Amino acid sequence: MTLPGADTAAAFAQERLCSSNELAEKGKAVLFDVVHFREPARAFALRFDGRVVAYLNRCVHVPTELDWLPGEFLDGDHEFIICSIHGATYDPRNGRCAGGPCGQGKLTRIAAEERDGLVYWLPTRDTRPADPTTAGPLPVV
Ligand code: FES
Repeated sequence: MTLPGADTAAAFAQERLCSSNELAEKGKAVLFDVVHFREPARAFALRFDGRVVAYLNRCVHVPTELDWLPGEFLDGDHEFIICSIHGATYDPRNGRCAGGPCGQGKLTRIAAEERDGLVYWLPTRDTRPADPTTAGPLPVV
């Protein structure tokens, strides 16, 4: 099965993120550091409708982190990811803007998968592990 956003992931080793039981349904997210287009960035993974979804922790409106407390991304009804700065809301299933100043934008998805009680994220050419000792080979350009 091909995961959305995993088109360039095959050349890079999966990164272990956490245990499955650390991600409660519509609960607190797990944060992790990445290098996105050679710049340090934060990302997050959470469980929604039973699936693990992961995105760059960066609002489409202004490139700032979304969470209103570390790891807290969902609104009061636990239905949308909400930006703590100006209240843009995003559909957790696909990262698309659902309201507010994010317009037609969507969050940058990071492919994630769950296997044998563990959650992994899949680095790509553009989004790589922050720890260079676990990074895959540099892409040939
Ligand atoms: S910075 Fe996120 S809505 Fe403005």
